[in-house]
Amino acid sequence: MQTPKILVTGANGQIGRVLTEALRAKYGNQNVLASDIQKHHLHNDPFEFLDILNTQRLKEIIEDHQINQIYHLAAILSANGEWNPVKTWNINLNGLLSILELAKDKKIEKIFFPSTIAVFGKTTPRVETPQDVPLLPTTVYGISKATGELLCNYYNLRYGIDVRSIRYPGIIGWQSLPAGGTTDYAVEIYHAALKGDNYECLLAEDTRLPMMYMDDAIQATLQLMDAPPENIRVRYSYNLAAMSFTPAEITAEIQKHIPDFKVVYKPDFRDEIARSWSESIDDSRAREDWGWKPGFDLASMTRDMLHHLSKEILKN
Ligand code: SER
Repeated sequence: MQTPKILVTGANGQIGRVLTEALRAKYGNQNVLASDIQKHHLHNDPFEFLDILNTQRLKEIIEDHQINQIYHLAAILSANGEWNPVKTWNINLNGLLSILELAKDKKIEKIFFPSTIAVFGKTTPRVETPQDVPLLPTTVYGISKATGELLCNYYNLRYGIDVRSIRYPGIIGWQSLPAGGTTDYAVEIYHAALKGDNYECLLAEDTRLPMMYMDDAIQATLQLMDAPPENIRVRYSYNLAAMSFTPAEITAEIQKHIPDFKVVYKPDFRDEIARSWSESIDDSRAREDWGWKPGFDLASMTRDMLHHLSKEILKN
């Protein structure tokens, strides 16, 4: 197999930071071009500044670097999206549309598009949400991602574009911080606990959400992208699950290691967003089609998070 030439958009984001490094470890630094709208380098070269709405620049970058795979991570998340719905729609949708259009000439062989549990809404069964359900998201982020899923499916059916997608649950990792999502609390809570701070949680203590450790999210992404095309029977987006917990449950897990840690609950609009999503996910299609299996539960994730994050905090 020829070594791919990969472009990652949104490479400075929560998942982008870790996924870019994982792709570089797998394919070599020079074969993975990081790009982001933030100019500062969080990655070594190669890096290109890229506003995803600048289609001309996107085209030039693809041509100059002979890109043949794109991991399109650039997006505005659920809570931030509510401050600026039009901008969120433009960034989350128009970037994807440009990439799908550019892929029609078949030089781009594979595309990864991250979707989310935010595509679910009041019409969705909240427990063990099946793969195929009516989607009625109530955030502009969810609306943009649900539409993105439909576009992926359409470009695959109509033009044979090999685009693959996962509905990520909330992602938790020690390597990077999320920005403006509803599930951010589950990362921030570990930072607060290790710094000896009390944590103010913007979700209610019993709001249950599907979550996943970063290692599993990266593993799933690489596994999906490596699977033979004929195994990919879902071209809109795969449900994916690892664990589900409430703020009270993650707090109790952290308190097993840091007994004095305290959380106060001040639910705001994020709690409403969270309650419109699923509590748990049925990911049997991903398991059947490309062998997905998570490695971390709440206890093992908490041990690993505290171990790595305490070393990071000591460094700074
Ligand atoms: N983590 C995202 C958010 O909270 C969900 O995809 O917005």
